[in-house]
Amino acid sequence: MSKTNRDCFYQNKASHTTFSQARLIWLLRVTIVLDWTLAEPVAKVPTILLNNHMSTIRPRSGILDVAPYVPGNLDLLDPDKVIYLASNESPLGASTDAIEAYQNCATKLHLYPDASCKNLRAAIAGNYSLHPDQIVCGNGSERLIDFIATAYAGPGDEIVYSEYGFIMYPISTRVAGAKPVTAKEKNFTTDVDALLAAVTENTRVVFLANPNNPTGTYLPAAEVRRLRKQLPEQVLLVIDAAYADYVETEDYSAGHELVNDDTSNVVVLHTFSKIYGLASLRLGWAYCPLAVADVLNRVRGSFTISGPAQATGIAAVNDRQHLKRAKEHNSKWLPWLSQALKELELDVVPSAGNFVLVRFHSIEQCQDAHKYLRNHGIILRPMAGYNLPEALRITVGTEQQNQICTEALQVFLSQSRNKI
Ligand SMILES: Cc1ncc(COP(=O)(O)O)c(C=O)c1O
Repeated sequence: MSKTNRDCFYQNKASHTTFSQARLIWLLRVTIVLDWTLAEPVAKVPTILLNNHMSTIRPRSGILDVAPYVPGNLDLLDPDKVIYLASNESPLGASTDAIEAYQNCATKLHLYPDASCKNLRAAIAGNYSLHPDQIVCGNGSERLIDFIATAYAGPGDEIVYSEYGFIMYPISTRVAGAKPVTAKEKNFTTDVDALLAAVTENTRVVFLANPNNPTGTYLPAAEVRRLRKQLPEQVLLVIDAAYADYVETEDYSAGHELVNDDTSNVVVLHTFSKIYGLASLRLGWAYCPLAVADVLNRVRGSFTISGPAQATGIAAVNDRQHLKRAKEHNSKWLPWLSQALKELELDVVPSAGNFVLVRFHSIEQCQDAHKYLRNHGIILRPMAGYNLPEALRITVGTEQQNQICTEALQVFLSQSRNKI
């Protein structure tokens, strides 16, 4: 939305509580702008890729089985013109301290960064009461997932995760040359017994996203403890705590207490992409036993984390007020969004993260809803890639975004009911 459009929309918003005419006019305008931008782009695949099967230059076996990661589709859209609720980004953005720290790096771009991320690790350690030597930073936690898969598994090995586990687990597993193995979930929640049953003598790593993306469900600390206790000692348990800072229930723990410096079989992953609002910076960290930190420090390369990312990360992790605001926002709007969607008679999986998984009555209805919302400038994440073709994932947005999204869904649903 241009500034004038947005101001005009917000003014209209102040005086209406229903899906008002003003909104429809705005949505129509957006529709016109988006109609051409939202058409599926015709992919121009380089001939060399099309001919890959014939090429004499071949990647290692299994690499072509890797399904490329499909991001939220914003490629051709102007982010200012759409409501983008497809990537679990923070509606509050980054803290002003972090933005200032980033800007201050502009005159230091000719310098190599600190390869050891000493100050960043110290800042993280200080704020989370951990030991800095047990922290390893990565370009987003997804890179750390990659490092762990490649360092601990290879051809002939298996990596286990739950049925609807985060999509990077199979990708990194295949890149490592290992075999991805999934364990059935119960009610869209990781089932510890199924995970344990999926473990064989070839299992090297178990990935557990807690809370999980895209389901939003979580395992209580006692269940994670039970999992660790019953896993063979030589299997590395990786607890992916990307959404840990949002969780409010007392039975939850990110799992730091399971990471010791003397036993080397639990790692906890964190990201700056979600509650810290720094997704574009690509910054994540692993809390590991010293032996695992040593391994990850060998495979991560040299100057992995840029100077601006280190400086911004330090400012972000030190701004506890911003973290508190982001959490409070989510605590208010996650239940609001979930309830509003339930009132539309959609099936909402209870979430502890900053998003909800919404299941429609049929695959067709879900696809139509996705298309309808896209055509009205509201982008959600389809879940077919997770084998949930009847579902969309909706990130908790700003107050305005949450309202517009649910009201547009309401219009869609009443129109589709009238068609029957
Ligand atoms: C469960 C989970 N883990 C890890 C990541 C990766 O985060 P990043 O690479 O941005 O740090 C995500 C991102 O969506 C996620 O949902």
